[in-house]
Amino acid sequence: MRTSGWYRVAMFGAMIVVLLNTLFAVKTLHTLFLVQGWRAHTLEVITHTRAIDLEISQGNSAVRAYLLTGYPSYVERFHQAKGTIDSELVQLQKLTIDNPAQQNRILYLKKRILIKRAALETAVAMRSGMAGPLDMTALQPSLSDSPDGLPSVYYCIDRIEEEEQRLLNDRTREVHHAEVLVWVSFFSASLLDIFLLAAAAELLIRVLRDRQTLADRAAEIALLNTDLEKRVELRTRELESSNKELEAFSYSVSHDLRAPLRTIDGFSLALQEDFADKLSGEGQDYINRVRAGVQRMGSLIDALLQLSRVTRTELQHEDIDLSQMATLVFQELKGAEPARSVTFTAQPGLHANGDSRLLRNVLENLIGNALKFTSKVSDPQIEFGGRPGTGELAGKTVYFVQDNGAGFDMQYVDRLFTAFQRLHGDRDFKGSGIGLATVSRIIRRHHGSMGAFSEPGKGANFYFTLADGPIAG
Ligand SMILES: Nc1ncnc2c1ncn2[C@@H]1O[C@H](COP(=O)(O)OP(=O)(O)OP(=O)(O)O)[C@@H](O)[C@H]1O
Ligand SMILES: [Mg+2]
Repeated sequence: MRTSGWYRVAMFGAMIVVLLNTLFAVKTLHTLFLVQGWRAHTLEVITHTRAIDLEISQGNSAVRAYLLTGYPSYVERFHQAKGTIDSELVQLQKLTIDNPAQQNRILYLKKRILIKRAALETAVAMRSGMAGPLDMTALQPSLSDSPDGLPSVYYCIDRIEEEEQRLLNDRTREVHHAEVLVWVSFFSASLLDIFLLAAAAELLIRVLRDRQTLADRAAEIALLNTDLEKRVELRTRELESSNKELEAFSYSVSHDLRAPLRTIDGFSLALQEDFADKLSGEGQDYINRVRAGVQRMGSLIDALLQLSRVTRTELQHEDIDLSQMATLVFQELKGAEPARSVTFTAQPGLHANGDSRLLRNVLENLIGNALKFTSKVSDPQIEFGGRPGTGELAGKTVYFVQDNGAGFDMQYVDRLFTAFQRLHGDRDFKGSGIGLATVSRIIRRHHGSMGAFSEPGKGANFYFTLADGPIAG
């Protein structure tokens, strides 16, 4: 997996952990609120229990005060306490509805309160009916905590409170436990956040650093490229000027060679014509050989001059009907060999933009070769055409000259376009090996490319492309 893939997995994992942690924090908070609610509930129950306890004591004290003083306001206070106790009991019953044991205890308390209350009321009635001195011994049983000897109301209240205290302790513990969990979850969430923040910051720093490094490298490469371009430009200029020098040199050499060659040609001809009777058969043979050599050298010089002219002349641009030009070239070349019968076809309407003189030279060489290398087949056929290019040549028109002549071995195809390279012997097919080198130069000057494919004995196909629009230089 790529680094970015690992980062994604890590981020996804971190997100899951954060989510789980959040769920855990919410859950612990929820539990905390719940147990806190329960604890508050228990405290409320205790408060009401204590209120009952207090009111019972107040009621008892009011009755005692009445018994001692006989003031009716104490009786009133006693009745007031009764009312408060009853309403507190109702509250208590409601609050402990979910606790059957407490409900039982409250019911029992209620009963005990009624008994105690009845005893107090009896005492109050007795006191109000007493005419003589106060007889406290007669009233004492009614004032005792448990008039019938069974558990007192205080005992009952203590039991209820005891149970609530036990619940309070349990719930306080639960609250503490929940608090600890809340702390743990929030603390771990904070730690996780810090860790993730640090990781994200580290990641960001790395990305920024990488970007900076990339930018630095790009700047370096751009600098190198400009340097390289400058050097290439310089070398190209150097090459161009040395090429021009070489061209000029070979042109002047070829040109200057012509004069002495003409002298040799003229004097050898004079020797042959004027002194034929003075020369032996062997002498005449030598003269013939000299003359043949001179002629061959002459045609070599012509070829060289033609080749150098290709690079020396300025390019003219015009729209050319290549199909028409090919037909004309064929007719002209064929005219030099009227005895031969050759089938020539040219796909009509093939146009190109270029220098007409040079492109004519191309067709002359290619069609000339096709004529030459079909001279030994029984039904010579030559075709000029164009097809859409594929691969590297996609979008261009590929022009071709196809024949069914001698062909050649593809192993040597690259040599053909170099000057003086020939794949066939001079005895079979005459030539100086300069034609295709010239063609190659012309095509290069038109910013095109060229190539060939063939098989010995199965003909050859020479193709070329040209620049789409006008050509610079
Ligand atoms: N149509 C063809 N069929 C087979 N071989 C060819 C064909 N055209 C060129 N060649 C091979 O490529 C060689 C080079 O061709 P090129 O035209 O440069 O020279 P040439 O025809 O021999 O001489 P020149 O054109 O200078 O008179 C030829 O000698 C021949 O071996
Ligand atoms: Mg040729």
